[in-house]
Amino acid sequence: MASRVLVAFTLVCGMSFAASGSWATEPRQFDYMVNCQGCHLPDGSGNPQRQVPAFPGQLGKFLSVPGGRAYLVQVPGSALSGLSDEALAGVLNWMLTTFSPAELPDDFEPYTAREVQRLRPSVPTDIQHVREDLLQQIARQ
Ligand code: HEC
Repeated sequence: MASRVLVAFTLVCGMSFAASGSWATEPRQFDYMVNCQGCHLPDGSGNPQRQVPAFPGQLGKFLSVPGGRAYLVQVPGSALSGLSDEALAGVLNWMLTTFSPAELPDDFEPYTAREVQRLRPSVPTDIQHVREDLLQQIARQ
């Protein structure tokens, strides 16, 4: 008897877990959980005190300044991840539309595997400098 109650309880918990979104509902989210979330956190808020930037309210803005689109692929967390070009394109698109939909430019075009393949090999040596430069461009807009 007790074990049957336990089984029912486990089933219900499992279902509400899935429904509440605390478990990956699609492959891009799963890739994010496994490869990126350790630093960037489930809600993309990161850890700004430790130089891990927050995505919400910000990430999409990079797409509206020159160099920003390449930067999101070339930043070490992206470029040096173990993800395939296609998976990285998918995760970046998922991050942009999940964490920063309001900041996306109207003409937003999702990343493709081919574009990621082209941009990925050239990781800037001074990523902090590139980031600061982009943030200044964003601030001037
Ligand atoms: C070890 C921690 C760590 C992991 C894991 C990580 N990142 Fe990051 N990420 C950072 C840090 C730190 C920065 C700030 C730029 C820098 O110093 O590299 C950053 C910046 C970024 C940015 C630019 C955002 C901005 O505001 O400058 C993107 C996009 C990004 N990461 C994507 C990813 C993706 C995609 C993954 C998983 C495939 C990932 N990161 C995994 C630490 C991490």
